[in-house]
Amino acid sequence: MHSKAVVVISRWQPEAWAQELRALMPGCDIRLFPELGDPTDIAYALVWRPPAGLLRSLPNLRAVFSLGAGVDHIFCDPAPPDVPIVRMVDPDMSMRMREHVVLHVLLHHRQLLDYRALQRASRWHELLQPAASAVNVGIMGLGELGLDCARTLSLLGFNVAGWSRTRKEVAGITSFAGEIERDAFLGRTDILVCLLPLTEETRGILNRAVFERLRRDGPLGGAVLINAGRGELQVEADILAALDRGALNAASLDVFETEPLPQDSPFWRHPRVVVTPHVAAVSDALALTRAIADQIEAFEAGKPLRNVVDPKRGY
Ligand code: NDP
Ligand code: OXD
Repeated sequence: MHSKAVVVISRWQPEAWAQELRALMPGCDIRLFPELGDPTDIAYALVWRPPAGLLRSLPNLRAVFSLGAGVDHIFCDPAPPDVPIVRMVDPDMSMRMREHVVLHVLLHHRQLLDYRALQRASRWHELLQPAASAVNVGIMGLGELGLDCARTLSLLGFNVAGWSRTRKEVAGITSFAGEIERDAFLGRTDILVCLLPLTEETRGILNRAVFERLRRDGPLGGAVLINAGRGELQVEADILAALDRGALNAASLDVFETEPLPQDSPFWRHPRVVVTPHVAAVSDALALTRAIADQIEAFEAGKPLRNVVDPKRGY
């Protein structure tokens, strides 16, 4: 195993991952793209947005590890590698996403955008505050991250439902499944949290038709969108139009069709939009390399890999 090479292919903090791996796998040859050395040595690749075709060109590759929970950055390659692709599933990542989602649900629930506007006008004015139990949160994507957020929001007293491809049996969470139940899910939702993966089926799913179906007469005075999934899930022109029309009352967006968000995007200055720069759950090299090193060791010892994605589903 130690004679095999591991390569880190990422334009995003590559040295941090390599440094942690070198400490955890001292006998292993850890390489940093573009310094591949002899490509036939490379058995494992840790990647974030690898150049198209590169992984297929490594003849002895045994597995690919996505440096994030999403794998769309690998499947956008027209010729993705024909080896198992493992994605990040880790308590550290769940904790970060939970913090982000709870923060933004509470921000809208406790009407912070309105209080900020009142503060700017030096106005001492109390807004009616609904109970969390009167607010319906709907989570699109009830997977590793969505389910964790759903449970936490339910503990905070919100009325939580989730929508996924397959039905979930989770105490206290109403589960809607598939296209056929999507409208019912949307129709009861005041705060829509999107934690879907980007696939051919989900691209552009956050569009006008979806916003029009959200509950408008809920206790928050309109529906709210929180997208921490992927930017290509959302149709940005439709979000802006929905904010104008009142189909959406506010939005928290962590991800965008184009990243970094272009300077001329209206989102930067929109009073009802909170922008964060794709930081909802950053992959922390210190926290996550141990799990990768352990998986490689176990795989080399003949054990199966965990959190392998299904290339047909795309997530
Ligand atoms: P999972 O694969 O565990 O969960 C995905 C969920 O989406 C599942 O519940 C799945 O349904 C559901 N889903 C997928 N396709 C459809 C569909 N066509 N219709 C209905 N439901 C669907 O992923 P994670 O929870 O780990 O991560 C979700 C996403 O979050 C990542 O793919 C990534 O894009 C994003 N992310 C963003 C970060 C950020 O910083 N902004 C950080 C980390 C992740 P089922 O359960 O039935 O399979
Ligand atoms: C991820 C991300 O997919 O950070 O993990 O976007």
